[in-house]
Amino acid sequence: MIQAMGPAGTFGVPGPRDGATMEATGEPPTAARRGSVEPRVRLMRPGDADEVARLHVEGIPTGLLAELGAKFLARVYRALAECEEGFVFVATCAGDRVVGFVAGVTSVRAMYKRVLQKHGLSFGLAALKYVFSARMIRRILNTLRYPAKVESQYPDAELLSIVVAPEARGSGAATALLEALLAEFHARSVGEIKVMVGPDLERANAYYRKHGFRLAGQITSHGHPANIYTLATKSA
Ligand SMILES: CC(C)(COP(=O)(O)OP(=O)(O)OC[C@H]1O[C@@H](n2cnc3c(N)ncnc32)[C@H](O)[C@@H]1OP(=O)(O)O)[C@@H](O)C(=O)NCCC(=O)NCCS
Repeated sequence: MIQAMGPAGTFGVPGPRDGATMEATGEPPTAARRGSVEPRVRLMRPGDADEVARLHVEGIPTGLLAELGAKFLARVYRALAECEEGFVFVATCAGDRVVGFVAGVTSVRAMYKRVLQKHGLSFGLAALKYVFSARMIRRILNTLRYPAKVESQYPDAELLSIVVAPEARGSGAATALLEALLAEFHARSVGEIKVMVGPDLERANAYYRKHGFRLAGQITSHGHPANIYTLATKSA
């Protein structure tokens, strides 16, 4: 996630906002190419945030955000989807059930600044229970400092997190989400993006490589190594 949010992924021209679908962007709706589910991709709505947070906690259980809990995470995704630098797409199948999501940001640093300005107090209150946990405070501070560690060497824009429910993996949902993400970055004139992922997440690493991400380096995040991949959004 949101690396910013741990070893599995951190965390312009404003794109289509709440309620818009890919049709509204002029892009054709994307359907899975194989498997029994046929996900469609649309922007996350506020009402999807709880499900997105649940998918994140289950799919990336070791990151900081997952440790902060699904309720906190739902707030983070709502704030991210609202902020100018960020966007979240969901893949849905029958009955508009959310089976996956991807979150992107044009600049992690700018997103942090804006979100903290707007929601800092409520996030602070929600995280108050960790005030006596030196470990959690260290992790939160490390997360907030991480953009400074990588910004000179890697693109500002980032795929923060992607998760597909286990039953929808291998269905093409993850590819459809990535296509939507790249089209959105392209629409925002972003030429290159990065993603951070723990080297132990073999399936995620294979997924990024399969889609042309290039291993550009490694950093240590929260005491764990993280691979940094980059990808040109091309004509997206
Ligand atoms: C990462 C993720 C979104 C990819 O979605 P997916 O539907 O699994 O992706 P795909 O099936 O299209 O691609 C995965 C590729 O990994 C490889 N793969 C499949 N199973 C694997 C396994 N058990 N171990 C290693 N590689 C595997 C294959 O090469 C596969 O591609 P192919 O079969 O089409 O050639 C999904 O696996 C997921 O939600 N994982 C948990 C959360 C996570 O790790 N997120 C990334 C960190 S931000």
